[in-house]
Amino acid sequence: MKDNGRIDPWSSEQSTDYEKIINQFGLESVDSSVMPNPGILHRRGIVFAHRDLDVILDSINSGKNFGTLTGLMPSGKMHLGHSMVIDQVKWFQDQGADITVAVADLEALATRGTSLKEGRKTAIEEYIHNYAALGLNPESTNVYFQSSRPVVQKLGFNLGRKTNLSEFEAIYGFNGQTNLAHVQAPLVQVGDILHPQLEEYGGLRPIVVPVGIDQDPHLRLTRGIAGKTNWFNIKPRKAGGLVITLSIQEENSRIFGILENGRIDREKRKSIFDSIESELIDLGFSDISTNQKHGTLDIPGATTSDKFPIRMRLLRIERNLGGMGLIPPCSTYHRFVVGMTGSKMSSSKPETTIFMDEDLEVMEKKVKRAFSGGQSTVEEHRRLGGDTTKDVAFQYLQYFFEKDDDYLNDIKRDYESGKLLAGEIKQICIDGASEWLQDLEEKRIQWSDRLEEFLSPDSF
Ligand code: TRP
Repeated sequence: MKDNGRIDPWSSEQSTDYEKIINQFGLESVDSSVMPNPGILHRRGIVFAHRDLDVILDSINSGKNFGTLTGLMPSGKMHLGHSMVIDQVKWFQDQGADITVAVADLEALATRGTSLKEGRKTAIEEYIHNYAALGLNPESTNVYFQSSRPVVQKLGFNLGRKTNLSEFEAIYGFNGQTNLAHVQAPLVQVGDILHPQLEEYGGLRPIVVPVGIDQDPHLRLTRGIAGKTNWFNIKPRKAGGLVITLSIQEENSRIFGILENGRIDREKRKSIFDSIESELIDLGFSDISTNQKHGTLDIPGATTSDKFPIRMRLLRIERNLGGMGLIPPCSTYHRFVVGMTGSKMSSSKPETTIFMDEDLEVMEKKVKRAFSGGQSTVEEHRRLGGDTTKDVAFQYLQYFFEKDDDYLNDIKRDYESGKLLAGEIKQICIDGASEWLQDLEEKRIQWSDRLEEFLSPDSF
């Protein structure tokens, strides 16, 4: 985030003032104690914020369908930092999500000049191969390419009607010099994020998108656009309960009974309200009052927890009437892991990260050179202890290599008390990383001729 308070998804600079980001962009904090089987990234506070995750948790708890979407930029090599999103995707898959993976080959072409052919090769051989090794199950995973799924581009194009250049300026800081391919990329991403809700890609269900905070601008854009397409709004009612209002738009004004002369076709209006009422009755509400002329329906007895089930019914009605019926995407955000040198992790600076296929000796050298939270002499270290908030070895154990919370806490305690030395914690990290890398290597070999199982039919 720059001083102007924006997050730039294409910049290599990212703010790590997470508290400020949560407040500024209206994110909610993750509470892993309310999650079923929280994973290590949840338990350790690495996945720190979300939008509408309760909708997904509710789907998990009640066994309803939901999906997870992730996207990858097919350029460069996959490294540790990239694996965090995949750990989350796998977690959602384990909780019952179907998985869609967008290969952002058009975005890579637009923003990095990567050819589609090159992008495809990198995506499959580097990224999908490692996703398989990290444990994604091909049975419920569908990988597609932006360039070969026209409906994604069409959706982005169509939904472009619900935004404008001023909004792009506000969200992304675009200006008169901005390349137009760059302006298109976010709309394609809107298409990526929303299209799994289309009938032919799984239909109406909530979709969660786990991302690093750098991608939040795209989620804000997508959520705003999805909300604007909705034909019905649900809001808290002043006197308590909820109120449903019709959102009259060009696409639906006829259907909502607005006549050429501006008057209202009462029969048509009534049939809309009848269908809403019957859904509400089916949900168990009996106290319902309508003002059909104004296009409002009051449910005094409804609470905020009724909002989502009601919204699902309204979206279904909207779809039956010919609307898109889109749910704004849910999202989760993870902290960025520090680079090995103590600054940012980046695939263009190999010394800052560990690649998924890193040679063990190279890894060992990198860890030994990594930024340490230890004191400069052994005596001082014994006296003052190490700083786990700065220590790369500790953080990599915490983010990636040590799955056992109790053991991790022992390491933390011993390091902070000075019992464990900087060289010793590095050795623990090296051992963990070796095991992790070797396991990945084995799994990659197992999957190497089965990667097609992950690809959707339109990607051949
Ligand atoms: N823009 C993402 C990146 O730079 C890639 C991406 C494309 C993506 N579509 C997506 C990420 C949808 C999440 C969801 O890495």
